[in-house]
Amino acid sequence: MLKIAPSILAADFSRLGEEIQKVEKAGADLIHIDVMDGHFVPNITIGPSVVRSLRTASVLRFDVHLMIENPDMYIDEFIDAGADIISVHVEACRHLNRTLRRIKQRGRKAAAALNPATPLSGLDWVLNDVDMVLLMTVNPGFGGQSYIEEMTDKIRELRRIVKARGLRTDIEIDGGIDLNNIYKVTEAGANVIVAGSTIYNAVNTVQIIKELREKAYQG
Ligand code: DX5
Ligand code: ZN
Repeated sequence: MLKIAPSILAADFSRLGEEIQKVEKAGADLIHIDVMDGHFVPNITIGPSVVRSLRTASVLRFDVHLMIENPDMYIDEFIDAGADIISVHVEACRHLNRTLRRIKQRGRKAAAALNPATPLSGLDWVLNDVDMVLLMTVNPGFGGQSYIEEMTDKIRELRRIVKARGLRTDIEIDGGIDLNNIYKVTEAGANVIVAGSTIYNAVNTVQIIKELREKAYQG
């Protein structure tokens, strides 16, 4: 089933609670929260205390995307703050299975995230341990960048691998998704769609989420 996950990176940070409620009322499925540390990516965003404050604003699941070095140091804090799904980058984890299993032991959904240049083979020995794979379709760090066209083949190949293994792993894509490319990426096999600027820059939030669903592949 298709899930739409607005990224609050593109929201007005002075009114984050309201911005989350706006997309929840408009029919979003998840709230995507981008955590950046200024080391793994060249930008700094929010930490566990902000997640904790936002928790009371919405009943939707928080999809927390950790773009940080040493994610193991912070996983418990983000879970305690209210994260439901945690994505860690394979490029940032020295002991990836251990990290993913830690997230699952705490009863949360675990996802492995891959930068655009990172091969799918990085998932070979962890695919059974993840609920979701997050494929970055831009280089992480900022909203509003353009979708990297080569990523369509990467999505398709990952969906093929997941099916061949008899898994039902969610494939989330993140970066540069808009009304013009949502068909292509969902037809290739993505089923969790992050959209930041497309949703938060739209004049009518209800309409944009509806249109994203309508334009997606109905397979
Ligand atoms: C980028 C973040 C994305 C970002 C997507 O590093 O991980 O979640 O907010 O923004 P758009 O949809 O504007 O590309
Ligand atoms: Zn993200």
